[in-house]
Amino acid sequence: MIYLDNAATSFPKPEGVYTALDHFARHTLANPGRAGHKMALAAEHTLDDARHRLNRFFSGVRPDRWVFTLNCTDALNMAFKGVLNDGDHVITTDLEHNSVSRPLVAMAEAGRITLTRIASDGGGTVDPAAIQAAFTPKTRLVAVTHASNVLGTVQPIAEIGKLVRARDALYLVDAAQTAGVIPIDVQAECIDLLAFPGHKSLFGPTGTGALYVGLRAAVRPWREGGTGGDSSSPLQPKEFPYYLEGGTPNVLGVAGLVAGLNFVEERGPAAILHHEIELCDRLRGALGEMSGFEVFGHGDPKRRVGTVSFRCEVMPASDLGAILDQSFDIAIRPGLHCAPYIHKAVGSYPDGLARVSPGPFSTTAEIDTLIEALKEVTGGI
Ligand code: ALA
Repeated sequence: MIYLDNAATSFPKPEGVYTALDHFARHTLANPGRAGHKMALAAEHTLDDARHRLNRFFSGVRPDRWVFTLNCTDALNMAFKGVLNDGDHVITTDLEHNSVSRPLVAMAEAGRITLTRIASDGGGTVDPAAIQAAFTPKTRLVAVTHASNVLGTVQPIAEIGKLVRARDALYLVDAAQTAGVIPIDVQAECIDLLAFPGHKSLFGPTGTGALYVGLRAAVRPWREGGTGGDSSSPLQPKEFPYYLEGGTPNVLGVAGLVAGLNFVEERGPAAILHHEIELCDRLRGALGEMSGFEVFGHGDPKRRVGTVSFRCEVMPASDLGAILDQSFDIAIRPGLHCAPYIHKAVGSYPDGLARVSPGPFSTTAEIDTLIEALKEVTGGI
């Protein structure tokens, strides 16, 4: 099959990830930190090592500020439910995934926060000046996706970070589509909270993710429980990262995530992104020459990740996705991509668009097969 749904989760994983998972599961899969025995210590060491690696990769302030989560949604919920107080104002954008939008809308509908959603321009970029203009004296948090999971457009997160810091608010970046392909420096970019999955461009398994909690952000735990240490304390121990990590962590997944990070560092984020963008541009070029297709999002390859979304005039995206899957064995993601606001903004709601997202192992030949399939499906129009 041809897998072109890497924006949902990367597949296949680098060989080293499979090897690391197998080896860890057979030799080290103890409960980290819960006992003093050698295997528990080795499991704990894997988590510590991963925190050091993430801290270095994203230029964090300290390794203990990297909290492992189930996925990016879990990290985002941890951040929103942990930092926001009644009466706070939050600024976000129309590019957000439901994992940002739904918790914030739920808090707004419960009367706990007020929410301003900034419209991106037609090409899918948010203007920092619009964020600046939306501040009120109660603004506590600005939450922005680094890249749209629909349009692939990258946001000016450093510029936004500077203005958020100048207003003394907290800044959350959802790096679901960028962690591993676009460099992120949380300190230089004034990011207080960075949420990301381990299973997309960091090439770990599903069930992995993390939240970086900078020193300016006080996050209350939204999950309390066993930490493996200080068992006599009636309350969650305050020590990071255990304060936010109640329960047995997915140490097997983290072992796979470290192997994924090895792959990213060996190949280099820029090289991975370059490959994915080249394949996307090949598809964009072909779609531009065929009639009956409309590509969405600005075309500047320097401000995009490897995702192309388009409309097919002769059939809804869901039908196109099903035909590509059933008749051509090509996996793409059609629909609203859990991001309804941007589909409304660009006029593709409620049918949505067909989204193609290659990965580092995708090939030119696979894109050409997709292009031929699209021609055949639409009768060569
Ligand atoms: N957020 C993922 C996507 O964009 C699942 O497909």
